[in-house]
Amino acid sequence: MNFAIVGCGHIAKKHAEAINNAEGANLFAVCDTVPERMAPFIEQNDTKGFTNLDDMLALKEIEVINICTPSGYHADIAVKSAIAGKHLVVEKPIALTIKDADRIIDACRENNVKLSVVHPNRFRPAIMETRALMDAERFGQLSHANATVRWNRNQEYYDQAPWRGTKSLDGGVLMNQAIHNLDLLVWLMGEVEEVFSMGATRLRNIEAEDVSIGTVRFKSGALGVIEAATTIYPRNLEETLSIFGETGTLKIGGTTAKLIEHIDIEGMDDQVTNDLIDGVKSDPLGKPGHQCIIEDMIEAVSNNREPIVTGEDGKNALALVIGLYESAETNRPVKL
Ligand SMILES: NC(=O)c1ccc[n+]([C@@H]2O[C@H](COP(=O)([O-])OP(=O)(O)OC[C@H]3O[C@@H](n4cnc5c(N)ncnc54)[C@H](O)[C@@H]3O)[C@@H](O)[C@H]2O)c1
Repeated sequence: MNFAIVGCGHIAKKHAEAINNAEGANLFAVCDTVPERMAPFIEQNDTKGFTNLDDMLALKEIEVINICTPSGYHADIAVKSAIAGKHLVVEKPIALTIKDADRIIDACRENNVKLSVVHPNRFRPAIMETRALMDAERFGQLSHANATVRWNRNQEYYDQAPWRGTKSLDGGVLMNQAIHNLDLLVWLMGEVEEVFSMGATRLRNIEAEDVSIGTVRFKSGALGVIEAATTIYPRNLEETLSIFGETGTLKIGGTTAKLIEHIDIEGMDDQVTNDLIDGVKSDPLGKPGHQCIIEDMIEAVSNNREPIVTGEDGKNALALVIGLYESAETNRPVKL
């Protein structure tokens, strides 16, 4: 299946690697408004390069477009690509507004193409094990959850490109960094009913927030706490996700939510518990998440089924972030 990447920056490298490593995938073309950015992709992969998206979309050989541009540009590029009949792999966040997310989802539905949003952490062993436990209802009645992202993105990071940290093209820590953890929070805990949050720009010279604290009420009645910051001195400290229920306690942790730090489930014997912890620890990342997304897209197209991470999933994570932003701006609880 022929893939093409739009936007040849940092994350595009992971897409190219994933396409090269995925069974049945080929990197056919790349597109960037800055020609020099395409050079390493063209040289390494023997692909075609385009500075004009329309010219690339005209190629019938291309079946899937991977959108790796600044977030605020995702929607226009996605809609154009869907109209051209291409399936889509869209980097997170799917878009920066619900209206734009809906435009993408509708364009894909109307043009009968598949849409997957890149939330690769879902494929991590710790997360898949947790999801299986949730599906088996091993936590009983849920009490609450905690999503914490204590990372460092220094000023140099934000100064790498003018779009970083802007409200119109990027967003702050919630929209760019924590959205991975928030996607997992919603995916595991279920739909969100209401949020209340505060945000601030404390240590970085950016337009959007570098620290955010929020509370959540899920539709189930369970509660949630969110803490997200890119201000942690001097480096990434942790990304954790904790779930507390009547018959289960679980904490996924490490610097990037990849280890089971604690698990206690009613009726699960010590051997099974320890094997679970050790199994995850022996291979915490599993197959690279971007490769899983590419292989899933190939299967979704071949078998005409929905991808594992859908456009609606991307929109659910986005809706939580936007609700938190609206609450911080209005200083009121917001119903989603
Ligand atoms: N899934 C993840 O773990 C992950 C990690 C990092 C970034 N991202 C997401 O990937 C996207 C890109 O981030 P990045 O760090 O690679 O950014 P980047 O600034 O390194 O790269 C963006 C590239 O897009 C190009 N570009 C800009 N406008 C374009 C247009 N209209 N058409 C074609 N090319 C265009 C730029 O020239 C640049 O080469 C963002 O949405 C970001 O949130 C996801």
